[in-house]
Amino acid sequence: MKSSAIAHSNIALVKYWGRSRHHDSNLNIPLNDTVSMTKYGMMDDCHLQTHTTIEFAPEFNEDLVLVEGHEVIGRHLERIIYVIDRLRSHAKIDYRFKMMSRNDFPTQAGLASSASAFAALSLAAADALGLKFSRENLSKIARLGSGSAARSIHGGFVYCYGGNSHETSYAEQICTVDCFDMHAVIAVVDAGKKEITSDEGHHLAHTSPFNEFRIEKSHQQAQELRKLILDNDFDAVGAIAEANCLYMHAVMMTSQPSLFYWQPATLNIIKTVQKLRKQGLPCYFTIDAGPNVHCFCQSRNMHELLKIIRQIEGVKQTILVRPADHGFVTDEHLF
Ligand code: DP6
Repeated sequence: MKSSAIAHSNIALVKYWGRSRHHDSNLNIPLNDTVSMTKYGMMDDCHLQTHTTIEFAPEFNEDLVLVEGHEVIGRHLERIIYVIDRLRSHAKIDYRFKMMSRNDFPTQAGLASSASAFAALSLAAADALGLKFSRENLSKIARLGSGSAARSIHGGFVYCYGGNSHETSYAEQICTVDCFDMHAVIAVVDAGKKEITSDEGHHLAHTSPFNEFRIEKSHQQAQELRKLILDNDFDAVGAIAEANCLYMHAVMMTSQPSLFYWQPATLNIIKTVQKLRKQGLPCYFTIDAGPNVHCFCQSRNMHELLKIIRQIEGVKQTILVRPADHGFVTDEHLF
């Protein structure tokens, strides 16, 4: 009962911030529908992916998790066991497990993502337990580990329903990798760990006076984006993604306590993207719960944008990304 899987991280074009307080908080039900691009790092040694192996066996007497060779404990371990317990109960198997996981991106680059990790874990564990789940059902399991992980089960462009129960909160694919020409240059500004994780930040969303507005607006934007992606309208998609990111940061900045994830270099990049756009280079930005910036463009402008972003003061590293395929089970085991 051993299986391995690989999944990629994703970047949200319409983001979630805050979880439903009307449901068990362990269910991770996002407050709004979201849209994302699953992302593939276009560098030899960095594809922004997680590779995970898991084995269940009657002779194991405890659940053991090793990430990058280090044993995982505390809240992280609890979240992993919560996901596995769901699958164990579906499979009616109560064996303990051993799991190993490896990211191919620099773990200290502020890019470590729970999305690829929980997507790979759900795919591998379901396979090891012999469960034949649809991708939609697997996305529900991945969500129990991390809200954004539901989307990384799929490839290309993805729609995730916030829903109002475990059954109605899941992700589906909008279209595959080559249906929409969107690439990104990731500008890494801070390589350190963030002070407030998104897990902690989600609990503060409701303290912002702009929270309700953001939720309502994000629902509309998610539905609009699905259509615009299928219409191949890069500029309209980019403009909505940028606006949605700013709504989220407005909520973060106005919550109590206030969350400022930006650093001076973050603003340098925002200003540069806006200036480039005025000069005729179509590009748009988005920022997650951290100071790093994703700058979107079409493939033909990727190298020009990369050259400019690299030179901005405070940018420590850049990574080119394109849409990635869905997560998959592999025969390559880590142990
Ligand atoms: C800002 O899914 O990372 O990236 O559920 O605690 O793992 P956890 O949170 P996470 O939150 C995502 C926040 C975001 C927006 C998004 O990806 O939708």
